[in-house]
Amino acid sequence: MILPTNLSSLSGLGRKLALRCLHKPTVKCRSYSELWAIAPDVSETVPSLLAIHFPLKETVWPTTLFIFPGATSGIGKGIALALAAEGCSLAITGRNERVLEEVVRLCWKAGLPQDKVLGIPGDLAKDEDCERIVLETLDHFKSLHILINNAGILVRGSLEELSADDFDRQLNINTRAAFLMMKLSLPYIIKTKGSIVNVSSNLSIKPIPGYLAYNVSKAALDQLTRSVALEVADKGVRVNAINPGVIVTEVHKRAGMDDKTYEEFLNYVKDLHPLGRVGNVEEVSRSVLFLVSQNASFITGATLPVDGGNSIF
Ligand SMILES: NC(=O)c1ccc[n+]([C@@H]2O[C@H](COP(=O)([O-])OP(=O)(O)OC[C@H]3O[C@@H](n4cnc5c(N)ncnc54)[C@H](OP(=O)(O)O)[C@@H]3O)[C@@H](O)[C@H]2O)c1
Repeated sequence: MILPTNLSSLSGLGRKLALRCLHKPTVKCRSYSELWAIAPDVSETVPSLLAIHFPLKETVWPTTLFIFPGATSGIGKGIALALAAEGCSLAITGRNERVLEEVVRLCWKAGLPQDKVLGIPGDLAKDEDCERIVLETLDHFKSLHILINNAGILVRGSLEELSADDFDRQLNINTRAAFLMMKLSLPYIIKTKGSIVNVSSNLSIKPIPGYLAYNVSKAALDQLTRSVALEVADKGVRVNAINPGVIVTEVHKRAGMDDKTYEEFLNYVKDLHPLGRVGNVEEVSRSVLFLVSQNASFITGATLPVDGGNSIF
């Protein structure tokens, strides 16, 4: 990846590194420290262009603050630990306080200083909890850059089987809470020209029978993503969604599958993914990190399938 950079807009470590690279317009390296080591010492002249080959993870802003509901399990926990390893400030939420504390400790273990990770227990079904999550985050970190709407539940059932309450329960978390979290965070994300990623599903694109409310909740989330992206593009805020295929997490068991049924399900669905397998949490985390990074600076309103080709099969 080549990043043309106007050095006059750089500050801090980025500027220092750029200045040290004056005589090497193109530098290949795997990390900031490696770049620092190989870059020659030069005088403090500001060039107009610097081309640096950075791997994806180095382009995530190391001090950026992420807030994401649904960080106590599966995909959210994976994203939290990946960002903690990058040194990003994190506000993470979930209903299960004990598990939330455990994830906070894992973030410390991954190298994040204690004051850079805030665990805020809360239930996204409650508007007052959504408001409190955003306010406590701002109170602690003073600004907000990135929102990852990851929390989700899976309510199984066909039109015949589902009650109206089941339908509401599904949409309340997967769609309404994502709407509310975006609404509450957006004024602060606009200030920092940050970014939003909604964790949707490939079932929004290609519904399957027996998951009616879930299919609908994620299709609505995709349209919400596109609509908000249009509304805030002129403010420099990007809004995208990712659409995973089947990923090994707790979500299906939480929806009522026992261990044996889950094993059989995984075995069956792997052949529905052209790559011949189901996905893992790291593969989804990497896609989210890409979308919030500067590597995706010209991407907004996108719904990115991370599904081994399932949606085109
Ligand atoms: N796994 C897949 O195959 C797959 C495929 C496509 C899309 N997705 C999507 O990926 C996202 C993450 O799912 P996952 O597979 O990682 O599932 P998971 O392991 O069940 O994790 C779900 C997360 O959402 C949180 N959550 C659920 N209801 C909540 C509520 N009312 N308030 C606050 N937090 C709540 C849970 O935290 P607490 O329980 O602590 O509240 C948990 O951290 C979901 O949006 C899901 O729809 C998953």
